[in-house]
Amino acid sequence: MKFVLIGAGQRGMIYARYANKAGHQIVAAADIDAKKLQLAQSEFNIADDFVFTDAAKLLERDCMADAAIIATMDRDHAWQAILALERGYHLLLEKPISSEPSELLKIESLANERGRHVVVCHVLRYSPFFLEVKKHIDNGAIGRIISIQHNENIGNYHMAHSFVRGNWRRKELASSIIMQKSCHDMDLLSWLVGSPCKKVASFGELTYFKAENAPADASTRCVDCPHADTCRFSAYKCYLPVMGSWPAAVLTENQTEEGLREAIGSGAYGRCVYHCDNDVCDHQVTILEFENGVTSTFNMSAFTNKIARTIKIMGEDGEIRASEVENIIEITSFASNSAASTQSCVIRPETVQSGHGGGDSRMLDDFLALIEDKTEGKGEKEAATSISQSTESHLMALCAEESRLTGNVMNVREYKARHSEEITR
Ligand SMILES: NC(=O)c1ccc[n+]([C@@H]2O[C@H](COP(=O)([O-])OP(=O)(O)OC[C@H]3O[C@@H](n4cnc5c(N)ncnc54)[C@H](O)[C@@H]3O)[C@@H](O)[C@H]2O)c1
Repeated sequence: MKFVLIGAGQRGMIYARYANKAGHQIVAAADIDAKKLQLAQSEFNIADDFVFTDAAKLLERDCMADAAIIATMDRDHAWQAILALERGYHLLLEKPISSEPSELLKIESLANERGRHVVVCHVLRYSPFFLEVKKHIDNGAIGRIISIQHNENIGNYHMAHSFVRGNWRRKELASSIIMQKSCHDMDLLSWLVGSPCKKVASFGELTYFKAENAPADASTRCVDCPHADTCRFSAYKCYLPVMGSWPAAVLTENQTEEGLREAIGSGAYGRCVYHCDNDVCDHQVTILEFENGVTSTFNMSAFTNKIARTIKIMGEDGEIRASEVENIIEITSFASNSAASTQSCVIRPETVQSGHGGGDSRMLDDFLALIEDKTEGKGEKEAATSISQSTESHLMALCAEESRLTGNVMNVREYKARHSEEITR
């Protein structure tokens, strides 16, 4: 099959390389960064006429492949997805789809009208860990689910890197943090619960990573800060010890001590975490009620040591406790009284050496099989997740943000109806 790559950055290259290794052709690429474009051109052997210095230029042309991989930055996904669907491509689309409800709903209706697959990169649905959790829910191991407690532990240094100093620090550059980071969690919850969400309320703010919490006399950059030796967020401590790997690799292509020191001295990642222009929340608590009666709390917080999700699923007959970082799923059936012994079974799902705990490679296998099935004219394979399911979980994130800002409890169906009217007007 043939693919076009829009955005030859970190994610886009992972996806394109995977498709290419599986025997498919990357026939065209677009990127505004000349170096990245050149790299993609030489790696995938793309003809000169088929490399474009902007997505818009690639999308001006008639459809030249079976599907497009869209992996640009958050704010560009929607217009590129709309143009690509109009051209006739199936899509592998990075999240978030859009933080504008009208664009989100337009993409859903366009994809459905034109019979195009849009697979949104909700990689966690495909990870062996969460697939195992889902399998035991569906097998009835704990009976009907009554409620869920879910935590997204961002990790304090990850917060500082991506959401304080980095590309996802401001809502206007990317989107609200509940959308950009936790649309994955909204998607996981509605998938595990097996029902659309009915109501959402949310509370949270940016509490810590701001000027009032800076040590006295802190400079705006680590390079000349008197606290560089004692501050745990000193960029020298954050990046030099992990030279060559994430997150240091994001700072510069020159992964030497000299290269990193130069990037810290003058680049965005050398800024004081208390003196950046960030505005996204560093903690947010959301409560959700699903149409099948299940209730859930979702706690997203920067104030954790490890980066991983933990979840407790409470059912009629038992509970599941699962910790992603420890790769442990514990299933316990309830006893008749406190004296009776309970039986717990502990499962350690297989670990896969690909990004997102194996989610990346499985998502791509599923996407490639889906497009192959469609291009062979069979249309028999069902997508593991459809554009309508992804739209639902994005609506949950949009409602959470609106609730946080207005103080209202949001009804997801009413929110969708209100914005659907906008696109039909
Ligand atoms: N699914 C996941 O779990 C997951 C994980 C990380 C990132 N992401 C998402 O993936 C997306 C890409 O993230 P990344 O880390 O790869 O970023 P990146 O900066 O490495 O890649 C984005 C690329 O898009 C290019 N680009 C920007 N505007 C363009 C345009 N108009 N036309 C063509 N190319 C353009 C940039 O030059 C860059 O090469 C983001 O939206 C991010 O939120 C998703």
